[in-house]
Amino acid sequence: MSRCRVARLEDLPAGQLKLVEADGTRVVLARVLDEVFACSDECSHQGGPLSEGRLSGARLACPWHGWMYDLRSGECAMPARGARVASYPVTIEAGEIWVEVP
Ligand code: FES
Repeated sequence: MSRCRVARLEDLPAGQLKLVEADGTRVVLARVLDEVFACSDECSHQGGPLSEGRLSGARLACPWHGWMYDLRSGECAMPARGARVASYPVTIEAGEIWVEVP
């Protein structure tokens, strides 16, 4: 497990996504109000780029075929219940966003 500083909070407006790299892993940051979530950029369906998806509340829809993930858990909410995308713990310290990746 490694913990990486990946962005400044002020560079991630509410409702926006940002693709970053943490120790070689492509990670999507999603800001939902004052919370930040992090998950893999790779959709578990066919590898679509989730950083180009659509954020709606705490749900992120893949741009390729619309699978929708709950960012709080990484679970696919629609349509493939049981599928999931890797999600990573986030901490915010002094305006900096940190992500833990395996
Ligand atoms: S690759 Fe993401 S829904 Fe198909």
